[in-house]
Amino acid sequence: MNSYNIAVIPGDGVGVEVTEATLKVLLAAAEKFGFNLAPTQYEWGCEYYVEHGEMMPADGLSQLKKSDAIYLGAVGWPEKVCDSVSLHGLLLPIRKQFDQFVNMRPHRLLTGTSGPLKKTKFDILCIRENTEGEYSGAGGRVHVGNPHEVAVETSVFTRHGVERLLRFGFEQARQRSGKLASITKSNAQKYSMVFWDEITEELSAEYPDVTVERYHVDAAAARMITHPESFDVIVASNLFGDILSDIGAAIQGGLGFAASANINPSRELPSMFEPVHGSAPDIAGLGKANPVAAVWSGAMMLEHLGETKAAQAIMAALNDVLASPDNCTPDMGGKATTSEVAEAIVKAI
Ligand code: NAD
Ligand code: IPM
Ligand code: MN
Repeated sequence: MNSYNIAVIPGDGVGVEVTEATLKVLLAAAEKFGFNLAPTQYEWGCEYYVEHGEMMPADGLSQLKKSDAIYLGAVGWPEKVCDSVSLHGLLLPIRKQFDQFVNMRPHRLLTGTSGPLKKTKFDILCIRENTEGEYSGAGGRVHVGNPHEVAVETSVFTRHGVERLLRFGFEQARQRSGKLASITKSNAQKYSMVFWDEITEELSAEYPDVTVERYHVDAAAARMITHPESFDVIVASNLFGDILSDIGAAIQGGLGFAASANINPSRELPSMFEPVHGSAPDIAGLGKANPVAAVWSGAMMLEHLGETKAAQAIMAALNDVLASPDNCTPDMGGKATTSEVAEAIVKAI
């Protein structure tokens, strides 16, 4: 029997609630499809910070390294811990340390769901660069508190980093409709984004079967709302991909629907799976969180581990369950609680 060690970090706020729901679903799928999931729970996050002065232990990353995959709920509790401390102390170092340079975020409607665009059919795979660019952390502040204070945040784009992300995008486009939308802002950003365009051009010679469309990020954002069906695979930098994937979530019906996979394609280091949304302090602890994004991310984890049938069964169960208004959380206009939806998904599996 195949067995997988999963490092589980529920994190903060609704992260804890949606992770509990997801684990129930994943364990039910494991039982049904005959493999073993061994989750190890790590209670790291903002409460841990308040107690210990750090978001995870000093050897936290080496503890995670042993796992076959990492599952994360959400990180952040701005009332207790400054976001720049919490995210740079847990989520972002995992992405960087394990070189999870691809962040895959699928955006499509499930049965019974409808975003604000009503009835529009779309199937977008947003591929976000995940380890460099605008999130490089290079910069600093001088003359702090002075009227002439300056803050600098430098984006770092490397040929290695851009090329491997774009290549991943070309490969995905080749397996789907053969269409790749490259997102930049090369009209305003004359170094990094022109560099990105040049590498796209170079690679497109290797992928003659893939049609590349180039969009500036502002126009792409508008187009995702007016013509979402015109996109298939999108490749974007760390920040642009972050923003476009929240638009993707919105057109799916909200942040409760958008799943993500932080992938290290070499498989030498663990990949991490998490919903796109955050800890949602406004609804945390009320049982109102929509667990669909989290469960979908769990299905992406099983697919990554090679348990394709189980992943497909979870996606089929999500489609079954959401077809009934009784299984909808308040963000979908329903009254179901997080754990009721999880139970319905388990039953459907
Ligand atoms: P958020 O995603 O937590 O919430 C934005 C809005 O979406 C809120 O109104 C919230 O109620 C709603 N929402 C989010 N998830 C939902 C769900 N599953 N079901 C129903 N509604 C849901 O974004 P924010 O408010 O900007 O951030 C809150 C905290 O989370 C901050 O500390 C932020 O830095 C952090 N954050 C973490 C991650 C992550 O860990 N991957 C992602 C985004 C934000
Ligand atoms: C996401 C989040 C994170 C990001 C934040 C919390 C640092 O918004 O996963 O989309 O920007 O990557
Ligand atoms: Mn985001």
